[in-house]
Amino acid sequence: MASVSPLNFLKDKTIFVTGATGFLAKVFVEKILRTQPNVKKLYLLVRAPDPDFAMKRILNEFVETELFRVVRDEVGANLKSFISEKIVAVAGDVSDTNLGVKDSKLMEEMWTEIDLLLNFAAITNFDERYDYAYKVNTMGAFNVLNFAKNCIKINMLLHVSTAYVCGEASGLIPENPINIGEALKNTRKLDLTIEKELIQEKLNQLQAKGAGQNELASTMTDLGINRATLYGWPNTYVFTKAMGEMMLGEYRETIPLLIIRPTMITSTFAEPFPGWIEGLRGIDGPIAGYGKGKLKFLLANPMTIVDMIPADMVVNSIIMAMAANTQQHSRIIYHIGSSRTNPIKMTDIHKFARQYFIEHPLKNKDGKPIKVRKCRFFKTPASFHAWIGIRYVMPLKVCIPNTYFDVTNSQNLQLTMEENAQEANAFNFDPKGIDWEDYIVNTHIAGLVKYVLK
Ligand SMILES: NC(=O)c1ccc[n+]([C@@H]2O[C@H](COP(=O)([O-])OP(=O)(O)OC[C@H]3O[C@@H](n4cnc5c(N)ncnc54)[C@H](OP(=O)(O)O)[C@@H]3O)[C@@H](O)[C@H]2O)c1
Repeated sequence: MASVSPLNFLKDKTIFVTGATGFLAKVFVEKILRTQPNVKKLYLLVRAPDPDFAMKRILNEFVETELFRVVRDEVGANLKSFISEKIVAVAGDVSDTNLGVKDSKLMEEMWTEIDLLLNFAAITNFDERYDYAYKVNTMGAFNVLNFAKNCIKINMLLHVSTAYVCGEASGLIPENPINIGEALKNTRKLDLTIEKELIQEKLNQLQAKGAGQNELASTMTDLGINRATLYGWPNTYVFTKAMGEMMLGEYRETIPLLIIRPTMITSTFAEPFPGWIEGLRGIDGPIAGYGKGKLKFLLANPMTIVDMIPADMVVNSIIMAMAANTQQHSRIIYHIGSSRTNPIKMTDIHKFARQYFIEHPLKNKDGKPIKVRKCRFFKTPASFHAWIGIRYVMPLKVCIPNTYFDVTNSQNLQLTMEENAQEANAFNFDPKGIDWEDYIVNTHIAGLVKYVLK
């Protein structure tokens, strides 16, 4: 692969981003505006009733936040004109046809101007209602693809998926596509039309019997878990994301498609500054629970590899993947994770979290420091139940199987980057460079406490 310059690639590009108020998309948009202010325009799709409200959300949830501090400082007094020149707020919804864009003039303009379309939008709650998750994670991907097909000079559709579309498989997971209808339990054939009809049928039944909101929610949540389990996925989120990938692969025709499958995304490693994070995600719930003195044991093998990757590295890989694959018409899949090249074990995360909270204890309601003790690990539900002396407490699963994600494609990208030394640091996404102890103690948990637990 020839050497490429991501900065040259981004210059004068018009980029459409869905899920623009989400954690990862914000890191992406910030990076573009900070490193390549000569990008032509960014259309940002936001769930909102109208463009004014969409812009308000972009200002409140992004431009005025700490994440955007470096850009704000650099642009200074020109911030307002910089934002209005570069950002167009688009009110819409990926679950609707034409992504819910109502203004036909705006839509024509977008179809004419867009070079790159990035789909970050998703429902990331693991056990979401099936109807909601299917509409956004599966049909949303399909709607974004159809929108891309109308864009006359589209250069790339980049879809952010998840490495866990592989379900609970263990061993080395290749960067392979998932073909339509392919279930993880190979005794079953998955039919996406049947899934759609099943959802509608269930909703009709519930409405016919006058079910209230609570019953609707719990029935649709259970339906998602049941369907996911039936076909071999552990939760509704990864199941519907896998079906989203199937849609894209099956119907993309000649649209150049990149599928980025990050593992567990953590706080920024370096840019725009280390440790920025939003919300409790992935391993952060357990880390926060531990710091608060509430988590005393873990149902997991301490030697399990936990695949984490900082958000800015994911974003750098996204930009590099687009720059390196411009002019291609294929579908390429990238795993973005650390388990293959710089693995970290559960026991080490625990050790580093303990180290952090011993040095910087959280305070309880009375302002007193919370003491943390070593967590006890149970490798199986049986060993846990034997310890507490009760046969059955609740269905518990052993946390994560030992999974390694093949990263051959992203390593090739990294090589391309290294050949262009000038921009290699600015777009680094090599997890080999992470010193996990330093990152978890001084960056990640410090960031979690500062921005989330505050
Ligand atoms: N975070 C991780 O560890 C991780 C790991 C692997 C892959 N991923 C993938 O990375 C992508 C970004 O994840 P994230 O962590 O940034 O998620 P996030 O913070 O939950 O953001 C999700 C975004 O999607 C938007 N959205 C939801 N439903 C929508 C709809 N119907 N129409 C338009 N937008 C909609 C949300 O808008 P609102 O603000 O209106 O809710 C939000 O902007 C997702 O595709 C996710 O599957 C994430």
